[in-house]
Amino acid sequence: MTHGEAAGKRPQAPPVHSRTVTKRLTFGPARSAAELEAQASNEALAFNTPYDSCVAWLHTNRNHVRLVRSGGHVVGGLVQYEMGQFLGGRSVRNTGIAGVAVDPTARGQGAARALMRATLNELHREGVAVSTLYPTTFILYERAGYAAAGHRYRFRLPLARLGRVPADAPLRRLDPERDAKVVERLYRRIAKDRPGWLDRNHFIWERVYQDPGGAAVHGYVVPGGDGGVDGYVVYTQDAVGHYPGAAGRYPYGIKVRDVQVRDGAAARRIMAFFSACRTLARDVTWHGALDDHLLLQVPEIGTEISVAETWMQRIVHVQAALGQRGYPPRTSARLDFEVTDDVVAGNRGRWVLEVDRLAGKVSRTTRKAGRNTLRLDIRALASLYTGHLSARRLADLDLIEGSSTSLNLAERLFAGPQPSMPDYF
Ligand SMILES: CC(C)(COP(=O)(O)OP(=O)(O)OC[C@H]1O[C@@H](n2cnc3c(N)ncnc32)[C@H](O)[C@@H]1OP(=O)(O)O)[C@@H](O)C(=O)NCCC(=O)NCCS
Repeated sequence: MTHGEAAGKRPQAPPVHSRTVTKRLTFGPARSAAELEAQASNEALAFNTPYDSCVAWLHTNRNHVRLVRSGGHVVGGLVQYEMGQFLGGRSVRNTGIAGVAVDPTARGQGAARALMRATLNELHREGVAVSTLYPTTFILYERAGYAAAGHRYRFRLPLARLGRVPADAPLRRLDPERDAKVVERLYRRIAKDRPGWLDRNHFIWERVYQDPGGAAVHGYVVPGGDGGVDGYVVYTQDAVGHYPGAAGRYPYGIKVRDVQVRDGAAARRIMAFFSACRTLARDVTWHGALDDHLLLQVPEIGTEISVAETWMQRIVHVQAALGQRGYPPRTSARLDFEVTDDVVAGNRGRWVLEVDRLAGKVSRTTRKAGRNTLRLDIRALASLYTGHLSARRLADLDLIEGSSTSLNLAERLFAGPQPSMPDYF
């Protein structure tokens, strides 16, 4: 998990604290600037990031900072990002978790565990449906009820393999002032049908147009009808250079921050743009879904496809999560299920999911669990919910229990393309 750095500022050494967790842990929002600064110090050390940019980041997000204290002193914290996540064609209320960091002297004593448990119970009370994060360790988050639920796929295309692609449509520079709205519209249209993609908030959009490391960001659009755009690409250039006298500025790699295309024609136009950069650009790297439009336009073998990161998901609120996502069309079904959750009590127990024409409704059931009741833990539900693991795979792994009928039904309800998430936060 990372956060933005204020570009171009002189790094300042963080103040040093020493906190052994000996007293009762308490949890809550920041009460003062001094508390934010104490946590900024933890962030700076944990993420090897300048202290002053951590202070700025926490101040910007001050209402979304949550801290854990021992004996009244801040020992750790995190930031919550309110956004959405597309699943089954609908946007589900999602809180992303970023910047989880604990004072090095207070680590290994349960501070992060307490912070995560308190955060999830607070989010549950607020009715947040799900939570996503990029972990640096699975264990901590697995203990809090998260499970691996999808990958962030990276594609690297060596431009020497691409050759010449003719440019047969217009392309112009992207002007964020003028184009932000139509770019967002195109993103949403594409993201809606990509399970796992973020329904981006202001912060994620800001990260598209601004590089946290301060590199110059460039963008181009493929103009479309009605003043819209059919495609866009936003990127930085990352020098790999060894040309004599080039001061390391070229050759370079094109690091795409965001690229979306409406159709094949727009994909070919963006490919033609990359092709035209191939004398000094060595390769292009971007992130997307496995059925990515651009990836499918590459005419030659040689694109590397890798899992850059794995993201985790937490079903924060069973009723909201299953009620807000979409389901396959022409499906009318009723699924009884029983959930265990060792962190959020409100999720435990027996539920019924009724699906009718794309929409689902979840309610408590007092019916006794029967043969066709699916039994699973909140972690298995997260992997099932995003489509990362099917009901049958989860059953093979002993993570879900049910009759053939209930497994087949769950298999159908949560079927869809492999989930992915190109954005990092
Ligand atoms: C990761 C970090 C937040 C953990 O904080 P902490 O207060 O020491 O964690 P806790 O003591 O509450 O541990 C909770 C669980 O996570 C596990 N855990 C903690 N640190 C871990 C690590 N580095 N690797 C693997 N598991 C870890 C613990 O074993 C514990 O599980 P257990 O109850 O089964 O033993 C802390 O080490 C840190 O700030 N690291 C640097 C920043 C970072 O990596 N943040 C996470 C970003 S996603």
